[in-house]
Amino acid sequence: MTAIAIIGDLFTLVDDPAVTGADDAHRYIPGGMLVIEDGMITAVGERSDIEPVLPEGAEVIDCSGSLVTPGFIDTHIHFPQIDMIASYGEQLLDWLENYTFPAEARYADKTHAADAAEFFLNELLRNGTTSALVYGSVHAASVDALFEAAHTRNMRLVAGKSLMDRNVPDAVRDTAESGDKDSRWLADTWHGKGRLGYAVTPRFAPACSDEQLARAGQMLKDYKGLLMHTHMSENSAEIQWVKELYPDAKDYLDAYARFGLLTDSSVFAHCIHVSGEEMQRMGEADAAIAHCPTSNLFLGSGLFNLREAEKYGVKVGMGTDVGAGTSFSMLETLNEAYKVGQLRGDKLNPFKSFYLATLGGAKALNMADKVGSLEVGKEADFLVFDMAATPLLARRLTHCKTIEETLFVLSILGDDRSIAETWIAGTRAYSANA
Ligand code: GUN
Ligand code: ZN
Repeated sequence: MTAIAIIGDLFTLVDDPAVTGADDAHRYIPGGMLVIEDGMITAVGERSDIEPVLPEGAEVIDCSGSLVTPGFIDTHIHFPQIDMIASYGEQLLDWLENYTFPAEARYADKTHAADAAEFFLNELLRNGTTSALVYGSVHAASVDALFEAAHTRNMRLVAGKSLMDRNVPDAVRDTAESGDKDSRWLADTWHGKGRLGYAVTPRFAPACSDEQLARAGQMLKDYKGLLMHTHMSENSAEIQWVKELYPDAKDYLDAYARFGLLTDSSVFAHCIHVSGEEMQRMGEADAAIAHCPTSNLFLGSGLFNLREAEKYGVKVGMGTDVGAGTSFSMLETLNEAYKVGQLRGDKLNPFKSFYLATLGGAKALNMADKVGSLEVGKEADFLVFDMAATPLLARRLTHCKTIEETLFVLSILGDDRSIAETWIAGTRAYSANA
């Protein structure tokens, strides 16, 4: 394959700004060059250094004046919730009962699921999201359809069927045995195929029996490299329910940990109302949290404490949590994360924002050796921004004096319109102009 060389304003995080300081954590090369061969990044740096040694016949694509960043990584999103996103008036438990479970019941139909999978993945790409950790419905066939569509697009995507064998309507209920069998079939079929991975996905503790959680823990042990993906401590009524259902558990985290579900490949969405001790145990286990600000505000769940996660060294990525979340756009999600920080008296630094949306997300999903930054040896998943996506953005960006300010303005005023191109493994998978 011929090499491709992109000219643009290259920006990437290479570390967590909260750990190393912002200066050491980022690289910014205005008018730089990014070289891709066979889907991998083979050079990134100053144009004057790279141009003279470009492989013969390289195709040069001039994106001068545009920001080029790693693709966004969504660490928590629900594929079967695209038909009920923006449903009015409820908090978590009634929202699930009234809107979510009825919508997910339709995913028993593979044709419906396959159609939705096309829409869902196109929407991710249109918003600049190149990798995601995805909740499926309870039905194996719908997750099979999602994997098929993601495989065709060559996306680095991890998904799982929801395990939910109690306290949910019949149409979206499995059994401990069938849930285990279906999960293993999906993992056998798709885990490690192309760029795909499988996540063992208990819906949340109230919807899973002890036997189901125990089998989930066993499956994690039986396979190599799976993720574990669930919800935790999102809503006060939910937490109270967990206390009643698990009277012996020390806290919500323990309801999972006692079944072997607290590991370095566990991703817990929300974690709003957790104690310092729970954060500490998550940090010690090297587990991850998906921070989902649009969802947490929409359902009135609460304000996530990012500083506490940082204090205990818990991995954190951003989650849109569509359809409790209100946008596929990671930029809009960062906008809400900034406002959540303001309400808590925390200033979310723009370098940290973009870290959470890229490399931080990759670390949370244990894929930072492959994606999440513009560095040699990584897979070439990246974005080209439209710096004049709206008249207001075009105007405001001309006043930015630093890359930090540019990133902040993009995260506050930007949305899907800011993404000009999304590249997957060195191939242009979405172009706003196409
Ligand atoms: N807890 C259990 N299921 C869900 C879900 O679908 N969305 C959210 N936000 N929380 C949940
Ligand atoms: Zn969720």
